[in-house]
Amino acid sequence: MPITTCVFDAYGTLFDVAAAARIAAAEPGREAFAAKWPEISNTWRLKQLQYTWLRATAGVHTGFWQVTQDGLDYALEAHGLADPGLRERLLQLYWELQAYPEVPAMLKALKAQGLNTAILSNGTPDMLAGAANHAGIGDHLDAVLSVETVGVFKPHRSVYAMVGEHFGCARREVLFVSSNCWDACVASGQGFLTAWANRAGEPLDRLPWKPKHILEDLTTIPEIAAAQ
Ligand code: LAC
Repeated sequence: MPITTCVFDAYGTLFDVAAAARIAAAEPGREAFAAKWPEISNTWRLKQLQYTWLRATAGVHTGFWQVTQDGLDYALEAHGLADPGLRERLLQLYWELQAYPEVPAMLKALKAQGLNTAILSNGTPDMLAGAANHAGIGDHLDAVLSVETVGVFKPHRSVYAMVGEHFGCARREVLFVSSNCWDACVASGQGFLTAWANRAGEPLDRLPWKPKHILEDLTTIPEIAAAQ
């Protein structure tokens, strides 16, 4: 069955989550942060994700903006840099994340091929609108689907069900793309064709399902979608 719909995870997949810390580290007066920003950024991301999984498992939902702040507070304290000015700056930059360089042309190509395009993300609708507008990709997206509609984070199956509910398509018509291996694996288990953008060269997650495609970036997504 041909692919009709391409659905993307947002943070780390379309939007460069390391950009907030990288930009802040280059600003004057941030020498202590500049010395260890990659580790702090990494702890921030890992804790943010852990809190989404813990909240989904515990059945205690909150918005992704809250867990983003909670993850940052943990990371700054863990690395001995709990500075309110730095915290505020990093959070501001998180609203204005850059898209990865190949993203605008890739989305444009999918639209030229007549495919539906969407984001499916843990992000709140306002966070996702802010990032999409700042990155200049809003016009290439038919839908921005947020877990706020179902009130539980990925990888709860109700999140993946939102795609068919929105587009009225079968799961095997959907190419689901994520830079989070676990997200791509669960989406495979939910019946989507999947691609894992393994930008950091990480090992495959040990889960019962695997991504169909493993890519270095998103450049070849239009070809993959057309070849099904
Ligand atoms: C998202 C996170 C998981 O955008 O990257 O849903």
